[in-house]
Amino acid sequence: MVQAYAPGKAIIFGEHAVVYGHPAVAVAINTGVKVTATLNSKWTVDDRQLNSSQHPHIKWLTENSSLNQPVRFRITSDLHPAAGQGSSAALSVASQIAIAKLSGLATDPVEVSKMAHMAEAAAQSGRASPTDTATSSLGGCVVVARELPKLATKVFDTHLETPEGKRSWTIGKMQVGETDEGTPHLVLGYTGNPSHTGKMVAMVADRITSDPLARENLDSIGEITSMGLLAIKSSAWDVVGMAMDACHQKLRALGLSTPMLEELITAVRPHSLGSKLTGAGGGGCMMALTNEPERVAQTIEMHGGKANVTPIISPGAVILGL
Ligand code: MEV
Repeated sequence: MVQAYAPGKAIIFGEHAVVYGHPAVAVAINTGVKVTATLNSKWTVDDRQLNSSQHPHIKWLTENSSLNQPVRFRITSDLHPAAGQGSSAALSVASQIAIAKLSGLATDPVEVSKMAHMAEAAAQSGRASPTDTATSSLGGCVVVARELPKLATKVFDTHLETPEGKRSWTIGKMQVGETDEGTPHLVLGYTGNPSHTGKMVAMVADRITSDPLARENLDSIGEITSMGLLAIKSSAWDVVGMAMDACHQKLRALGLSTPMLEELITAVRPHSLGSKLTGAGGGGCMMALTNEPERVAQTIEMHGGKANVTPIISPGAVILGL
């Protein structure tokens, strides 16, 4: 038996733009997915037959593994599914660790991240950046870009054939002054409405073919992300917050916000350094950077959202037991 845990993620800057090569910055959060895998006589997930419509990521990973005996998977998660918290990436990462371990292979975080990214892409019509899977696997603060900004330390390169052509990314990590006194927290606010990553990514892809402004918005997100990165590196948290606000305006202009996201984002602004939607949008989660995490969490709950306070930095995926 193998048990693996992989955290969810919060994208601080750069969602959607990263699919087109612009930089993104994401951090692992303090909640995630646990997968328990045991060799078995049948392929099952939570006692039901493994099938590609319910568990496309696990199905893809098992089909692309060297396992020669079926596996029983059990999943427990404290992430909201389809909420921009990277639950499918965390599931893919934890499953891949378990599959690799059961196959007698190494569970190197880079290899795990690459396999999980391909599983994500297969489940999202071929379009997925490695942001969610790399952040879940590596933990900490992860930077993803076609050309990695100098502020980050390179970890690996990866690429993917997408319907729009081949995309290449470099994945790096960045040290964050998380032990500094006064480091703010992130608060995630779940709207209660699902966010369909594949659908939202496809919507942006359609939009940039018909609306030149959409491409400009993605380019602006890239520039805001570069400024935000510099601010994170120098622990200039008020500037990080301003950049988050600016990023949200661009995501909103791309049609990715919703009335509930706007309600939560606006409600927390008086107590936050910055707030924005996080992940694919169209529902899912918003996030705030704040020195008053309890107050922001209460505000989110009062407006009908579900809040989760997380430090800026949390560890990546691990094997829990054998
Ligand atoms: C989803 O968490 C982030 C997106 O940028 C999609 C991706 O990077 O694959 C919307």
